[in-house]
Amino acid sequence: MSVILAIESSCDETSAAILVEGKVKSNVISSQLEHKEYGGVIPELASRLHQQHVVRVVNEALTAANIAPEQLSAIAFTRGPGLLGALLVGTSFAKGMALALDIPLVEVNHMQAHVLANFLSPTPPSFPFLCLTVSGGHTQLVLAKNHLDLELVGESIDDAAGEAFDKAAKIMGLSYPGGPEIDKLARHGNPRAFAFPKANIDRFSFSFSGIKTSLLYLLKAGLKVDPEYVQKHLADVCASYQAKIIDILLEKMADAVMESGVKHMAIAGGVSANSELRRRFVELGSTLNVEPHIPAFEYCTDNAAMIGIAGYYKLLDGQVADLSVTPYTRGF
Ligand code: KG4
Ligand code: ZN
Repeated sequence: MSVILAIESSCDETSAAILVEGKVKSNVISSQLEHKEYGGVIPELASRLHQQHVVRVVNEALTAANIAPEQLSAIAFTRGPGLLGALLVGTSFAKGMALALDIPLVEVNHMQAHVLANFLSPTPPSFPFLCLTVSGGHTQLVLAKNHLDLELVGESIDDAAGEAFDKAAKIMGLSYPGGPEIDKLARHGNPRAFAFPKANIDRFSFSFSGIKTSLLYLLKAGLKVDPEYVQKHLADVCASYQAKIIDILLEKMADAVMESGVKHMAIAGGVSANSELRRRFVELGSTLNVEPHIPAFEYCTDNAAMIGIAGYYKLLDGQVADLSVTPYTRGF
């Protein structure tokens, strides 16, 4: 029987999950709220907090699943991409535990795991499908041919979509992470109140640095005439800014779906928790007559369950890591 302990520590969430035969039995996520006061993730602080919390989080995941360490058949962990010091904590912990229990170690790519989070759903996508992975560090369009054959079709040439949300929130004085804040405020705003630019770049590449700069200029100009400008227009600015990011994402998605002829499409990553993106993604599915797939909320932002499902498929394929494995900070 496959009983996997999965560990995620690539950024600011310490998470552990137990999967039995590829089904989630527990998924404990400990978010490092300490970064909020700095307006972003402080890498060294993240490493220290992972060190503090990893034992507790793993124990909680085992207890919640009613699994003893001796019952585990493998340990999956995030090898990268992410913050080096943060990744080292999960990697070292996973190695130590695999060594102590004499069970296989499985290394997982965090971005591929975001895509495979769609297989935690009771109605997963059929192959081949396209997945738009939108997180704080990445924006990627991926063609999934099978669980382990994931081809990168395009990605952002500068900021990630999540970064565009986070940086905009910072400019507007909102708290970190900015995505959920803008999502909430945008519900009361007019998405057509302000016009934001769309970078004209090739095919399936994305660019989000221009839209962020244009927001900065818009607010600076507004503040010159009215010191209350940001507060007065906050909801409309959030709604218009968010709408433009979604336009950019879904336009590329639609082009890629039509060009590839896939019948299923998915979204993944932290930004896929965005309520308006979820709504418009489903709408796009009807327009294109393609089945849309969205992970449950808890599997959109960073979590160990997605590392577990990726580890499950790798283990089925016999892909076991060596104990000398080291993390990487970049790469798909
Ligand atoms: O996947 P994730 O948890 O971590 C990375 O791998 O980066 O993604 C975090 C990103 C942050 O940029 C955050 O602002 C964004 O996901 N995010 C959202 C929402 N919830 C999280 N962006 C827009 N709307 C949301 N509701
Ligand atoms: Zn992530």
